[in-house]
Amino acid sequence: MKTVVSGVRPTGNLHLGNYFGALHNFVKMQDDYKCYFFIADLHSLTTHPNPADLKSNVHNILANYLAAGIVPEKSVIYAQSDLPETTELYLYLNMLASLGELSRCTSFKDKARENPANINAGLLTYPTLMAADILIHKADFVPVGKDQLQHLEMTRTFANRFNAMYNVKYFNEPQAFNFGEKPLKVPGLDGKSKMGKSEGEMNAIYLSDTDEAIRKKIMRAVTDSGPTALGQEKPEVIENIFSLVRIISGEETYNFYNGKYNNMEIRYGDMKKQLAEDTVRFVTPFREKIISLLADKKYLDDVLAEGAAQAHDSAKKTVAEVRGIIGF
Ligand code: TYM
Repeated sequence: MKTVVSGVRPTGNLHLGNYFGALHNFVKMQDDYKCYFFIADLHSLTTHPNPADLKSNVHNILANYLAAGIVPEKSVIYAQSDLPETTELYLYLNMLASLGELSRCTSFKDKARENPANINAGLLTYPTLMAADILIHKADFVPVGKDQLQHLEMTRTFANRFNAMYNVKYFNEPQAFNFGEKPLKVPGLDGKSKMGKSEGEMNAIYLSDTDEAIRKKIMRAVTDSGPTALGQEKPEVIENIFSLVRIISGEETYNFYNGKYNNMEIRYGDMKKQLAEDTVRFVTPFREKIISLLADKKYLDDVLAEGAAQAHDSAKKTVAEVRGIIGF
């Protein structure tokens, strides 16, 4: 059986970008693959969260995972910090990574630009920790959104470099996975091209959002004053909101409003109202499950403990083999 690994950083709740870009693929893969889904709490240390927030953020993400349909009986769900083998492999991979390639990584450059006062070594080596997450279970597939493709390419580079350095065929090349489709980029509501946690209040719809919050954010989504010619090409902000309509409301609704746009009959207010109601309908069951799961912290801790035990079996084997190859 092929192996799947993926994870999410624990900062707040998951948004529709996380869901449609990654999580819903995780859920669909659980029956046919050996799946490891973890919560990347070590990665979140690059921004120094306070200890109480870190614990509750891990619970939040776990509740989001379970509410979305990841089933602990089928998949291994664990916190990255519960698997110290990952950090050992991270150290070995760091010996193979060069300063040049790490500092050219797009996400490093973006984060360094956004926060020049906090360019730490953990931020620089974020891609080697991610490679360790993936290679620790010798994953074949990694369901991720488009923004993670460069990290995945670096994972393949480190895996091949390890093999070449020690003249072995130990690691294979993990591939991005989205059921035959290209990995997705879900746009934000503020006219920016990406829905993201750090893009501000009005950019993202979370699986935990209230109906009011969803309606407010969508009705305020950025649009323009409308097309000025028949069949006019859409500017990026309009492309973005149409993409959300396609993802959330579906192809038929997309075609309906696309026709209106092409005929210059579009009323963005109507389209947003429809998108808001479809989003409310979509999000409500997630929010309700998240709230009820968060009321039972003991159950959440039990899921993490069981997941850690199972992940440990696979990770222990990899680290023992890697140590042998290295010569310890
Ligand atoms: P994170 O927490 O930023 O995002 C989690 C997952 O959601 C996807 N995603 C999106 N997909 C489409 N459109 C969007 N707007 C959007 N926003 C987020 C991301 O591509 C990702 O799949 N580095 C990772 C966490 C990680 C990881 C790993 C993932 C650590 N180690 C090993 C896979 C394998 C991250 O920051 O994801």
